[in-house]
Amino acid sequence: MSQNDIVRRIDELKRERNAVLLVHNYQRPEVQDIADFLGDSLGLSRQAAATDANVIVFCGVHFMAETAKILSPEKTVLMPDIHAGCPMANMVTAEPLAAMKREHPDATVVTYVNSSAAVKAQSDYCCTSANAVSVVQATRNSKVLFVPDRHLGEFAAEHCDKEFVFWEGFCPIHMKILAEDIVRLREQCPDAEVLVHPECTADVRALADHILSTTGICQRVQESDAETFVIGTEVGILHRLRRENPEKRFIPASERAVCPNMKLATLEKVLWSLEDLAEEVQVEEDIRRRAKRAIDRMVAIG
Ligand code: 13P
Ligand code: SF4
Repeated sequence: MSQNDIVRRIDELKRERNAVLLVHNYQRPEVQDIADFLGDSLGLSRQAAATDANVIVFCGVHFMAETAKILSPEKTVLMPDIHAGCPMANMVTAEPLAAMKREHPDATVVTYVNSSAAVKAQSDYCCTSANAVSVVQATRNSKVLFVPDRHLGEFAAEHCDKEFVFWEGFCPIHMKILAEDIVRLREQCPDAEVLVHPECTADVRALADHILSTTGICQRVQESDAETFVIGTEVGILHRLRRENPEKRFIPASERAVCPNMKLATLEKVLWSLEDLAEEVQVEEDIRRRAKRAIDRMVAIG
């Protein structure tokens, strides 16, 4: 089947199944191009909650599709490749988190959405990279246990007058973006604006002009007068940036920053998942209800 035929068949099946295609900003270019909604974790959760489709095909990693299922249990949530996980999300599990909570009974648990439903179920609040600072500021307690991304946690801590306890998680992809990459690119392109994701290390964040979620980066590019941008996040976002801003120039902070899990969804797998209504994401009901409480609190804050 040619690529055009696959896309045509996907469109037909979407209509037949009343399905919607939610796609993360790091996905393959050809998958981004057929999205009904393309966005960051926060935008995608909002869409998952709001859609009146019966079926959500989620092109992203597992925790994102799981969040969609938590918010919309009556919908069928499919992943083109259910093995697309997030190594950072796997750095925290329910039991060790329970132990850490026992050590810090006075702390409010704020959990990055890059985590399993079982971990969210043990959390007071969820947050994403777009709203971590406002979520932490909105908590009444003066002490926060931030899980699992140490770097996003540090970024939030820089903007809040609270005591923090950090889980030692990190994104192995964003670790590949080095301060020396930014220093070199600033020398080569002194007029470029440097935009980085908060999962980057503190030394990289310190060299940036703005620290933003993936959709935040896309919005900043549209507002900015700069012509050249250094982009410090996973390289898949460059496709969207170039398509939306053909007159501007984008330079990846590091070509090494490729998330292999984000590339597992292909057009063929999207088609097969619509044909077979597979592979379906499931969340156990008790965990789902408790995880939803933490997500709802986040959504209420913004
Ligand atoms: P965003 O929510 O900013 O899209 O980030 C998700 C992610 O996994 C970053 O690595
Ligand atoms: Fe997880 Fe990092 Fe991939 Fe984002 S880029 S999905 S945090 S491994």
